[in-house]
This record gives sequence, structure tokens and C-alpha cells, in this order.
Amino acid sequence: MLVHDGGVPEIGSLGPALHEYEPAAVSPPVANATLDTPVPVALVAEEASGFTGRPGVAGARLDGSAWSPRFGLTAVERPDAATAVFRLDDRVAELELTLTLHVDDVLRVTAELRNTGSSPYVVHRLAPSIAMPTHCTDVMTFGGRWCREFQPRRTSFEGSILVENRTGRTSHAQLPALFAGSSGFSERSGEVWGAQLAWSGNYTIAAEHLPDGHRHVQLAELLAPGEVELAPGDSYAAPDVLVAWSDRGLSGASQAFHAHARRHLPSSGPRPVILNTWEAVYFDHRLDTLQQLADVAADVGVERFVLDDGWFGGRRDDTAGLGDWWVSDAVWPSGLAPIVDHVRSLGMEFGLWVEPEMVNPDSDLYRAHPEWTLTTTGYEPVLGRQQLVLDLGRPEVRDFLFGAFDALLREYEIAYLKWDMNRDIVQGSRHGRAGTHGHVLGVYELIDRLRAAHPQLEIESCASGGGRADLGILGRTDRIWTSDCNDALERQLIQRGFSMLFPPEVMGAHIGPERAHTTGRRQDLGFRAATALFGHLGVEWNLLDADADQRKQVAAAIDLHKRLRPLLHGGRVVRVSHPDPAAIVHGVVDDTASHALFAYVQLGPSAATLPAPARFDGLDPARRYSVAVLGDLDSAKEFGRRRPQWMSEEVVISGDQLMRRGLQPPVLHPESVLLFELRDAA
Ligand code: GLA
Repeated sequence: MLVHDGGVPEIGSLGPALHEYEPAAVSPPVANATLDTPVPVALVAEEASGFTGRPGVAGARLDGSAWSPRFGLTAVERPDAATAVFRLDDRVAELELTLTLHVDDVLRVTAELRNTGSSPYVVHRLAPSIAMPTHCTDVMTFGGRWCREFQPRRTSFEGSILVENRTGRTSHAQLPALFAGSSGFSERSGEVWGAQLAWSGNYTIAAEHLPDGHRHVQLAELLAPGEVELAPGDSYAAPDVLVAWSDRGLSGASQAFHAHARRHLPSSGPRPVILNTWEAVYFDHRLDTLQQLADVAADVGVERFVLDDGWFGGRRDDTAGLGDWWVSDAVWPSGLAPIVDHVRSLGMEFGLWVEPEMVNPDSDLYRAHPEWTLTTTGYEPVLGRQQLVLDLGRPEVRDFLFGAFDALLREYEIAYLKWDMNRDIVQGSRHGRAGTHGHVLGVYELIDRLRAAHPQLEIESCASGGGRADLGILGRTDRIWTSDCNDALERQLIQRGFSMLFPPEVMGAHIGPERAHTTGRRQDLGFRAATALFGHLGVEWNLLDADADQRKQVAAAIDLHKRLRPLLHGGRVVRVSHPDPAAIVHGVVDDTASHALFAYVQLGPSAATLPAPARFDGLDPARRYSVAVLGDLDSAKEFGRRRPQWMSEEVVISGDQLMRRGLQPPVLHPESVLLFELRDAA
């Protein structure tokens, strides 16, 4: 519900339409010692209207003028029932602002600023404000690091909360996303608003509780000084802000984001099971080993074989070769055909790792074009993983990369690219001016161009694991490599955080070897498999080292995943709050609430002798369900002296009992997953 009085519109109420909206009911009084006119939290909040929080537009002309615009509405257009376009201008500052609001499963806010004057205008920020109701007192943002991405951080919505990302990519350490909600909101209770910025570069998220009691959140691109300078007639489009609403807690808001993503993802539906060679062989590419690995992969049911880093140029380790995108003669003397053909002959698709945005100083590309890097002349560049970032803001760089990858895609039957981005951008300039904005747009353009030329191609977004997970990249890729961490215990929490924002079919989840490479911990195969089961399943383990029993177990996990895949990759994800900090509960329910898979996960030892019941959610309270415990993965290590009765007899339980009282799990060892399959028993 939007209100405006000739200026920038304001969000009056977010959520399903009210039967009737009477603005008089909430019109603000004027308090003593304040301005004479109430100050709105407009969609683009204006200092010029008395707003004392962060203004939505920050910028100026080179002489300092036009720094505080005030816009007047010139037109409202309704191109379709779900879209409204507000055209505004400020004739003094000579700026035009266009705000487009579109509603599907979420609200999408698009803002564009145009310079209608005759001198340049430098944009520092264009940040739509999403007004939050005053009863919205809790905030959740995300933190993390490499191998521990997507960690929710909860705080109270007081004062100013600021999250800023200057890594030049979406980052492991924070996310362009936030949830805010009523006091103590949980997975299934409370009113919750979620906001995400569809952007893969630098960003600022601000949540402000203003002195007048208003609350709002802003999600915007973080621009460096001078990064965007609009010539007369030019415009700057802010990344889209997506807003979800739920009156059924956090899971409801996640479901709205998932529904939106599913509507806009380049590919939909169940995803093929992957084998990725990275942790299996690292840089040790040998045709015979990889062919044998492919044989075993096909045997256990893998559907896509992805050859990771090490196949090109002088890339024998991570010190050299990035940028030289031709097949290495040294390791692949007959090209990639022997492995591609072998993989294809086994009925699998072939995928290939690339890191297009990067160059090693030790590469032919760098020796030929040192000027193509995103660096600042006069300074020694800061290296990351011995590599530099190429400037994809330059058309000649994009053309070179398009040429290289287009040739590969034409030569070989490559169904899938794992598109990696393994370092932060530091002091990245184009012709002396900050260049991250242009680089990110260049990445988008290159991906779009490759996809247009190869419509069947699928792409995975990776940045040392989950460093580039956002709705901007997800609009043009099919999968996100969630984390380099394949340790299932870590993964339970990483994936839980991921699921708050993105649907499970894009969540890359691999069964790794017994001893996790990134943590050194050992975990049972059952636990590893039951953890990866819920995402876009893959195997990242040298199965040639696995014995016959282990291969059988992997095959069983893949079989189970394939059987449940329509549900897992199309259903509604439900996370359930559980009283025991040593346990979590999550599941997926199909659209008709007649089929569901839930997991009770015992992460560590509980403080109590008996585990607390696992309550489910998203079921139909009036229906009755049969409950089967799935033993296929051998993932539940039972430890008690007697099981709960329901496990030893066939029971049918009502949806409301399952949701309100739950099911009593047996006593379990830590690192156990109990899988429940529920079916309508009508
Ligand atoms: C990154 C990725 C890994 C792997 C390596 C290859 O670290 O996250 O999965 O592809 O690069 O160098």
C-alpha cells in the first residue's frame, strides 16, 4: 500500500492488501520542537523534506550543488496490474527519479536516477527506504567467513545498524540481506519482513530507528567516491531491492523468497547429481584416474561430472595460468575430448571449472595485457591467491573472455560451467576511477552473452565457496557453491542460513570424504549423506579410495535423493525452532501438504537425557499422516535402551499433533540425522 501527496511515495503498509486503507488513521501528529510538517519515510527519503536519517539520494554536481534534491511526482503509470511506475523530478537539481514497484511473491523496488542537467552529477548513493512498522523491533543480518558462510546474527532494532561490504564481491563475511520482525519472531511465529539486494558487488545495508520512532531499512550499492559520474542525460540504476513479508515467521518469509527465485531462475525443477573433482584430485589431472573416477561416478548414479581447476594453460598449481584459457598440452595432450567423450559415453553430462575474472601475473595473458587488470596505476597491486582481477568493465576484456569460452563451448559438449571468483577486489580502478561497479555489470553482461550464445548451458556461481550468493547472480546462474566446507556438522548450520534466502535446488551440497579437508574432522558417511541430501546433491570425494560398502552407501544416498528430488527441489522449505541447542529440525513439504520429508538432526550431545520432540510445520492440521523413518542412509545412530513406541508400529498421526506436539525422537548419538517421510494417510 503506497501513499503520496505529490512527492516521493511512501510505503503505508507491506503485506497483503488491507480491505481498505485509511491514511487518516495513521497520519502523524506534530510534536513540540520538531519541524512544522511531519517528515515521511519516503521510498527515497529526502533531507530536503526534513528527513534526518540516511537520505536515499546522496550525490552532487562538481561544484557541490544539487546535493539535497526534493522530488515532485510527475506521473504514475500502471503498465500491468502488478506494476506501478512513479516518475518524479526535481527541476532545480535537474534530476529525474523513476521508481518501479512490482509485486509477485515479493515486492521488487527498482530505482533509477537520471541527470537532466548540463553538467556532470556524481552519484554517491541511491538507496530505497523500506519503511518498517514500529512494532518491528528485531533484526537479523548475516555474518560469516570462508568455510562458515550464512550465519544469522540477531539483534534488536535500535539506533543505527550498518552492514557494509567492500570486498568487491558478495562476500563470505556478510550478505546483502536482512530480516526484521516483531519482537521475538521465530521460524513459525511473528510478522517478518525480509529484504535482499540483487547485487554481486559492494553494498550497504542500513537499518535505522529514528528519533521520531520510525524504522526503515535501506539496501543499496556501496559506491566509492566518484565511482559513478553521470554525464548529462545519463542514468544510474540501483540494484533491485526485493522485499518479502510473512505473518508466519521467518520460514514464511523464506518461502516467499524461494517462490520468487523459482519464478526467475534460468532453470527450474530437479537438478542432476554432480561429481566435482576438486577435493578428489586437486591439480593432479591424469586421464586414466579421471576416467576411472567417472566410471565409478556413473556406477553410483552421478549424472554430471565436473572437471575442476587445473586443466588449462600453465595451471599446475594455484600460482600460475589463470587467464590462459586453452587446454593444457602438458596434462591433456589430446585435448579434453578423451575425458569429455568418456563421461558422455557413460551417460553423464560434462562440466568444467573456470575463473574468467582472474589472471595470474605468471600467465601469457598478463604478459600480453598487464593493463587489463582492475588495479590502480602507480601502486603495487595487492595479490590474493597469487592472482589479480581482470577488469570486466572493459569491453575488450569481455570480448576476449567471450571468445575463449565460446570456443571451448563450441568445441566440447560442455553442459555446465562452475564460474569461480577467488579473491576480493582491492583498489580496483578503471582509468583511475573506482571500477567495481563497472566490473560487476561486466560480469553480468558476459554471463548473459554466453548464455544467449549457448542457451542449454548451466552455470554455478562460486567464490571460494559461498562468497557470491545473491539474487543478482542467481538471476543468471543455476546453482551456488554454498561453501568450500564439506564438513557435515558445519554444513548443517551453513545450509540452514542459506535456506533463509535461497531455494534448496540451487544449494550445492556435496558428500565429501570421511575426513573433511577444511576442518580435519571425521564424520560417518550416513551423516554426510543425510546432510547433503537436502540440496543440489553432489559428491566431492575420490570414490576410487572408497571401498565397495561405501560406494554402495553413496549409491543408496543418490537413489534416495533421486526418488525424493521432485519434493526436495520443488517443495516448501520449513525450518522448525527446536528447544535443544544441540539439535535442529528442518524439512520440505510439497505444495498440497500431502508429502513431506523432515530431518531431526542431533548435532551434539543434549543437556537432557531425552531429546525434545521434533515438531513439524507446514502440514495440514486436519489431515492424518503416515510416518516412515528412512533407514536408507544409516544416518541415525541410536543409542537408547528402548525406542519410542511409534517407531516400532505403524502409526497415523494428525497434522496438528505433528505440528503442535511433535514426534519423540529416539536417543541418538551426536552427528545423527533421523529422516521422517510423511504421507497423507487419507
Ligand atoms: C575455489 C573453489 C573450490 C575449487 C577451487 C579451485 O576455492 O571454491 O571449489 O574450485 O577454487 O581452485
